[in-house]
Amino acid sequence: MEKMQECPFQQGKITHQKSIDENGLLFPMVLLPQDNKEEFNTLQSFLHTIQNNREWINDHLKKVGALLFRGFAVKTASDFNMVMEAFGWEEKPYGGGASRTRIEGRVFTANEAPLHQPIKFHHEMSSFEPFPSKIAFFCEIPPSEGGQTAILLSHKITERMEEKYPELVSKMEKEGVIDVFTFAAEDDPDFYLTGWQTLYKTKDKEEAERRAANSGLKLSKVSWDGENMILHIGPNNSIRKVDGNKKTWFNLLAFRDANEPRKLGDGSAVPREAIESCLQIAEEEAFDLKWEAGDVVVLDNRFVMHARRPSKPPRRILAAFCE
Ligand code: FE2
Repeated sequence: MEKMQECPFQQGKITHQKSIDENGLLFPMVLLPQDNKEEFNTLQSFLHTIQNNREWINDHLKKVGALLFRGFAVKTASDFNMVMEAFGWEEKPYGGGASRTRIEGRVFTANEAPLHQPIKFHHEMSSFEPFPSKIAFFCEIPPSEGGQTAILLSHKITERMEEKYPELVSKMEKEGVIDVFTFAAEDDPDFYLTGWQTLYKTKDKEEAERRAANSGLKLSKVSWDGENMILHIGPNNSIRKVDGNKKTWFNLLAFRDANEPRKLGDGSAVPREAIESCLQIAEEEAFDLKWEAGDVVVLDNRFVMHARRPSKPPRRILAAFCE
């Protein structure tokens, strides 16, 4: 609690924040300008406050996992880029297969899949090594309805899955989980993944395989089904300890449909009912962030998952990734 007095922002409250510890810390932590008057609440003043309080910000991000900066004068992609620079974290260039466009500096669009499609819970680039330790989002245009970004502390899933399926969880820890992703040759605007030709910037299958092998994915195999490229990833270290005590659910069981068969490293199947439980627990533990224009959210991607709720256009959320 002693650090609270030094908070360089005003702390705000929004409905349904989750209590995370006996010190009264809430998830996400909501941070507002100290002074709302327009002449003081400028982008410059926000940037200075960040630069002068990096230690406080790092410390609280590590404790809480999610910081929501609301009410600051952040209006454009370029403003958001400056905010990201002010935090002082190195960029981790995006390497995943989602369709995104680099807008400016280190700022990308969030996944460009059609807005009516939900995107389920995941740690960003969780199949990569290294993966970004932080991900930030900026709301340029809030959706009028739906379109929340849902976030959750992923060790909560592990805790509850351990109670329900202790053997499965201990096997997951030992054997890891295998993930299979199929990439079509060309982009499909209705799908959340790009085609492999866009992803690996080549039309040559062998070259695409080489690039996949050097992308940081833990690939066990690449196979082809006609023009479709199938990446067999893992077994990945699917439950990871973070900061000593959090056992994070660092896998994609909460990301895909329960109908999709999933395997552990030893070849055994993950029971469908366990996947269904995991999806349900994720929903129960989630906090849905209703976006307001100008919101900036920073997540500790090591232990916080995110998901996208469906909405109608317009909705424009931008993203940045950090080492
Ligand atoms: Fe994501």
